[in-house]
Amino acid sequence: MDISSSNNAFTIKPQKAVGLHRFLCMQGGDDDGSYAKNSQAPASAITLCKPLLLTAIQSMKLFFNNKDEADSVRIADLGCGTGYNTLATTDMIVESLKQRYLKECGFKPEFEVFYSDLPSNDFNYLFQSLNALFSDKKTRPYYVAGVPGSFYHRLFPKGKLHIAVSLSALHWLSQIPEVVLDKRSGAWNKGRAWIDGAKKEVAEAYAKQSEKDLDEFLKCRKEEIAIGGMLFILMGGRPGSCPPENQLGDPDSRAKHPFTDSMDQAWQDLVAEGLIEEETRDMFNIPAYMRSMEEVERGMKRCGGFEIEKMEYRRIVEHSEEKQKEWMRDPVSYGRAKTNMLRAALRPILQAHLGPYLSDQFFNRFEKRVSSDLNLLHKTCFYGVIVVFAIRI
Ligand SMILES: C[S@@+](CC[C@H](N)C(=O)[O-])C[C@H]1O[C@@H](n2cnc3c(N)ncnc32)[C@H](O)[C@@H]1O
Repeated sequence: MDISSSNNAFTIKPQKAVGLHRFLCMQGGDDDGSYAKNSQAPASAITLCKPLLLTAIQSMKLFFNNKDEADSVRIADLGCGTGYNTLATTDMIVESLKQRYLKECGFKPEFEVFYSDLPSNDFNYLFQSLNALFSDKKTRPYYVAGVPGSFYHRLFPKGKLHIAVSLSALHWLSQIPEVVLDKRSGAWNKGRAWIDGAKKEVAEAYAKQSEKDLDEFLKCRKEEIAIGGMLFILMGGRPGSCPPENQLGDPDSRAKHPFTDSMDQAWQDLVAEGLIEEETRDMFNIPAYMRSMEEVERGMKRCGGFEIEKMEYRRIVEHSEEKQKEWMRDPVSYGRAKTNMLRAALRPILQAHLGPYLSDQFFNRFEKRVSSDLNLLHKTCFYGVIVVFAIRI
């Protein structure tokens, strides 16, 4: 990274729109700011969608009806991350498929699970957790392998997969739309780090990038999934009635979401204190986009080769009532918890942009902002997810 000093503020070489795959990932390890310790929201989304996943598994075609011709059943988790969620989900998929095979075919095939994520993901932590899970078992319930790479590219040979799942990952885009970082463009996202509440041109640029990314994702999966195989996606989403610049659906959620007001304020604090130039702030954008069901459906149609069996928009509560009560008794811990959630999601990309010292300063300002706005604590907010299950035809 290039850092030089002018007017007492650091000028940092701007975040490049492309090349995100080199450093985008959730925070690894298992300290307080890690994804492993801050993945409760994705866990709630999975719990909410579990009945749909089980239905999908119950209704999908079984490959290898005959023991003599049985190959292994191959499952991929795309954007697996590091935490408990991914292991619990693949365990559940394998277990319910095993039961079906035993009941309907009288035998159980072998299973292979491929954990795939960007190379910057903390695969070491994931595989250490897996080892602990398998340590008391003589025979592994399934064989595993790591597949580093972007799900916007081909990751597997043709027709190799029987099931591909992607949980809370596909709302991460392959890149920040270049125009939102371009001062000369009408889509320059000045003073904001994300699209929610931004002007129309910014929202349109994000929507266009999202469309292109969804096409790439589906095109690759169409080649990799065997005919009759299943694609199950759970991703951040918004209600169809909301335009893209209204990513979160309702104003309370907007006020409380870590990517919106408190985050923009924390950036502004760094500028006001002379720690960074305005340009450094303006050159940082979060590459995430919440699609509507209509956008997903249009993508599936453009791609072809998939039949949507079911698609739903669901709202998940931001955190449990118990957690909210606990935080009301100890508001300081609320600011800390929210900051840790933000660290878990953004620290790697923020560090790549600001370096370690300034990114710590940023999280520090964010924590102060959140802890001083206790009105937020009393609000119960919801986030949207889209869950879709399709068969490769
Ligand atoms: C919020 S985490 C979800 C992790 C896990 N699936 C879960 O439910 O807890 C999102 C994951 O998507 C991964 N990801 C983002 N963009 C990706 C891409 N282009 N290719 C593969 N993985 C990607 C991130 O690295 C991260 O691990």
